[in-house]
Amino acid sequence: MSSLHIEAAPGQIADTVLLPGDPLRARFLAHELLEEVVQVNGRRNMLGYTGRYRDQPVTVMGGGMGIPSTAIYVTELARHYGVRRILRVGTCGGVGEVSLGEVLLAQSASTDARFNRLQFGGHDLAACADFSLLRAAVDAAAARGLPARVAAAFSTDCFYDGDPQLLAHLRRHRICGIEMEAAGLYGLGMREGFAALAILTVSDHLERDEHMPAEQREQGLRTMGELALAAALPMP
Ligand code: HPA
Repeated sequence: MSSLHIEAAPGQIADTVLLPGDPLRARFLAHELLEEVVQVNGRRNMLGYTGRYRDQPVTVMGGGMGIPSTAIYVTELARHYGVRRILRVGTCGGVGEVSLGEVLLAQSASTDARFNRLQFGGHDLAACADFSLLRAAVDAAAARGLPARVAAAFSTDCFYDGDPQLLAHLRRHRICGIEMEAAGLYGLGMREGFAALAILTVSDHLERDEHMPAEQREQGLRTMGELALAAALPMP
């Protein structure tokens, strides 16, 4: 039986899921990185694919933008399909010393969203990545000679017109990537018991008015996808 928002049969979703926000990026990544690719979700056009990487099953599916959309898919992936690892691959705005195109491995994700508080008695959750996945991603990046930075991220609910002081607060706390999903993913990982990691490419620098060109974004996506697969499914 399918879940409410995912039409796949239970056996069609792998234990490991790569989760870009954009469903077309899910299609691109699946065909670029996996073999024997089959589409397993098309509901609301939130495309999902399952294929094989080094002979192991992997699902790549879009999660949409923001915590509410991401949380719907992630909750159903965890509860209904029993997914064990979810790796977000996405872009973020850069703050402070980070460079355009740099890959961030988000160790933690602070947020202005209420999502985790709603499920944590109103308290502040230290939303953090799964340590084993984070360490595996660090190792995989080092093995590739890829200078990935273990970093603190911030997930905002406001792409436009948020707190005008936000960048100053982020700099003050040495948070160098801003996006919209990681804190929700990490909170759900902690509550539902799956391993979560967000791998983020700095696509825009928010203080320097620098923006990554489209071709570089595609290459960044491929790099993150390869890193995510190497971290989640290391060589035996
Ligand atoms: N803000 C929020 N989310 C983002 C950004 C940003 O500047 N860049 C990429 N995702």
